[in-house]
Amino acid sequence: MSGAVGVFDSGIGGLTVASAIKKHLPNHKLIYFGDTLHLPYGDKSSENIQNYIKAISAFLFEHECQHLVVACNSASSVLPLVASLPSFGSVTNVIDPVVECVIQDKSLKRIGVIGTKRTIQSQVYQRQLIQGNPSLEVFELATPLLAPMIEEGFIHDSIAEKVIHEYLSELPDIDALILGCTHYPLIRREIDTYFGGKVKLFDAPNVVANTLKKLVETKQEGGSQDHFYVSDYTSSFEKTAQLFFGESIKLEKRILFNF
Ligand code: DGL
Repeated sequence: MSGAVGVFDSGIGGLTVASAIKKHLPNHKLIYFGDTLHLPYGDKSSENIQNYIKAISAFLFEHECQHLVVACNSASSVLPLVASLPSFGSVTNVIDPVVECVIQDKSLKRIGVIGTKRTIQSQVYQRQLIQGNPSLEVFELATPLLAPMIEEGFIHDSIAEKVIHEYLSELPDIDALILGCTHYPLIRREIDTYFGGKVKLFDAPNVVANTLKKLVETKQEGGSQDHFYVSDYTSSFEKTAQLFFGESIKLEKRILFNF
């Protein structure tokens, strides 16, 4: 089996994580699967997301991926409920490594978490943070408008500023905020501005790429071509993909589902 890394997300937002992985592990072949047909996962039931996870991880395993990265917070929040996955060399999600980073910073006491409805309803961050440090206070908030807003390109403008303000003003005083969704790194600067730089922000891309780097054999022959598959294709997905990956990529359509 090659040392290829399979990364998947409900759509193209996970390309923020894929891009960080490519920077940390440039010689590893990357196979990305964006389930654009079923986007958004944030509003789907846990049962359906578990079925999508099974089908996509089987696809990535068949495509010789040795390492699986679940680059979607909504999918990561239900991952422990998936009965069995193919036997990858490693499975990394986007929640555990970020929680670990927060727990390690002993100066933090009051933690905010923002994410999709699915992620927040699962209370996975709250559970894991308190398990790691019972003295933490955790405040979770669903911010469902942020992902579609970012996909539509409202990022560095007054609309983004207003929506961010509307949501974040619901949070009490916090020391740190976890950006618990693939899309939010794109508005990290705006969130930082909202808090006047006084709240420590945590997001997944670099933290997850660093975690993966420790799990994989870094001495790899480069050369194999990366692939970026999606379960539904439109030219607007391709345009948005460039925004998330930071460079132009070619999306290939693959239908995996008969449901
Ligand atoms: N990828 C999803 C997440 O990180 C956001 C988009 C969606 O709802 O599918 O939760």
